Amino acid sequence: MCGIVGYIGPRDAAEFLVTGLHRLEYRGYDSAGVATITPDGQFALVKTTGRISQLENRLADTPAPGSVGIGHTRWATHGNPSDENAHPHFGGDGELAVVHNGVIENYRPIKQRLENEGYVFQSATDSEVIAHLIDSCLKHQPPIEDMAADYGPLVDAVQSALTQLRGTYGLVVLFRRWPEVLIAARLGSPLIVGVGDNEHFIASDASPLAGFTDKIVYLADHELAVVTASELRVIHRDQGRVNHNVHVLDFQVADVAKGGFDHFMLKEIFEQPEAVENVLRGRLDHDAATSKFGGFNLTPQQLRALNRIIMTACGTSWHAGLVGEYQIEALARLPVEVEYASELRYSNPPIDNGTLVIAITQSGETADTLAALREMQRKGCPVLGICNVVGSTIPQETDGGFYLRAGPEIGVASTKAFTSQCTLLAMLALYFGRLRHLSFSAGKQIIAELQELPDKVRRALQYNDQVRSIAEKYAGCDNFLYLGRQFNFPTALEGALKLKEISYIHAEGYPAAEMKHGPIALVDEKTPSVFIMPRGQVYDKVMSNLQEIKARGGPVIAVVCEGDTEAAELADDIIEIPAVEEYLQPIITVIPLQLLAYHIAVARGCDVDKPRNLAKSVTVE
Ligand code: M6R
Repeated sequence: MCGIVGYIGPRDAAEFLVTGLHRLEYRGYDSAGVATITPDGQFALVKTTGRISQLENRLADTPAPGSVGIGHTRWATHGNPSDENAHPHFGGDGELAVVHNGVIENYRPIKQRLENEGYVFQSATDSEVIAHLIDSCLKHQPPIEDMAADYGPLVDAVQSALTQLRGTYGLVVLFRRWPEVLIAARLGSPLIVGVGDNEHFIASDASPLAGFTDKIVYLADHELAVVTASELRVIHRDQGRVNHNVHVLDFQVADVAKGGFDHFMLKEIFEQPEAVENVLRGRLDHDAATSKFGGFNLTPQQLRALNRIIMTACGTSWHAGLVGEYQIEALARLPVEVEYASELRYSNPPIDNGTLVIAITQSGETADTLAALREMQRKGCPVLGICNVVGSTIPQETDGGFYLRAGPEIGVASTKAFTSQCTLLAMLALYFGRLRHLSFSAGKQIIAELQELPDKVRRALQYNDQVRSIAEKYAGCDNFLYLGRQFNFPTALEGALKLKEISYIHAEGYPAAEMKHGPIALVDEKTPSVFIMPRGQVYDKVMSNLQEIKARGGPVIAVVCEGDTEAAELADDIIEIPAVEEYLQPIITVIPLQLLAYHIAVARGCDVDKPRNLAKSVTVE
């Protein structure tokens, strides 16, 4: 939610800022802006409602020259999307400018106080208080005649403002009188600094830096960075100056481009064979017939002593958690509960010494998931993370965990992260199973099945054209039902979520047998039901559920194993997938559902990668 960028060095700042904002646009896209300091020492501020392309148009008419600047792409929280509410915001009489990602919970009393001091607010945002507050703190310092080399007065003013804020922030401050320095700070919202050759870049995540530098520094909570072209100093609120580690960025410009696909979502759907390969790589132990992970930070003895796992996540990651519940309970006979992070954070579940918490997240920044895991840590539970974005907040805060290695996922609708999460959870199920009752030969068998997955994903993708024509046939429908049982109940939820978030069609995912307890009343000839029914232990049961829908005139699209003539006779349309073991089915059955949602959204003219009202990483409660 909201992306921020900053630049200081020899380049034209606006060029990097706009490139960076394009790459961060998935974080929010209702308004955008940049501020630079021009060679004659004045602010150039260009802001607009709408997308980054609109900002570019404005910049073509009103350039923002200069080699230092900040930029922002917004997902509105306080105040509607408008030019006034777009960032950057000025503090004082245009003495400084601020971009902010996060939420300032106590902005009202601060605003009141600042208004009493004479500050005039231009926007309805919570963020503008930060700008005026820093200005006010600067004015309360002794007059600055010569700025010290360490920019002490600026650091003191920013720190004094930050101590008064309650909430979360990733922010960058640009000062009119001191264009040779940027100050960045974070608490609860991500921020990184890219280190170049006599230049520095600042961004909410690493994607803007691809092609500019491969050296990055992750800022931690309560850290503040003093950034000049040639120097980066990191200061912690309590520890003073701290050393910063420089990491090497492991992706390229191609990873953050569409690579010939019409949308990032489609590209990411087609990247799934490689994503599944990557999550498996190096994690299968053939000799011991199990999986192996570097990140548990718990001994096998401690893991053997567990008696319960609580998984927590939001959205698609929560659906992956449900898949994990079925997998771990089936293969390891270990009880698993899956809790919405937004619920878990305020609930008070009974826990004991044998409880392990696993937080699942693509972005590693989801506010509810972060809050839930902190709450569980407070209660003394070990917490592991399953995450895609390297260096994001959740992996920094968990006690251990595993990266998905799926590469950047930019489309707002999560696709390859889901299949990677389910694959990783299957490997965890194998691991826990082998710690318990699973035999060596059962472990060998599971390893062989896991190794076949990437090819099966590839094969499922080959039915794309078939899915497209089915999508075009049903694109005009206003309601869809997604039905599955056991391992494919979470897939039904995920299929429905994909459809609603990118096509705005109302869709419900349901356990197929529950239909007769109420929702079957929704069935009519204009409401298609998508049955997820590969061969398995409940196949015949789902077939009966399908008959119940057909008997009431509802059209049926069935996702079935290749060669399933029985289902083909009954369903109006079928989508085939390769057969696969039941505990791995969600990884394959979700693929046609992702494609179906995608093609329906395209047929309805929707903006697939940037659906309305949404943003990719949900960093507000
Ligand atoms: O980054 P996370 O996995 O923590 O995000 C959780 C949800 O916000 C996310 O999965 C969301 O539901 C997706 N847009 C679904 O496609």
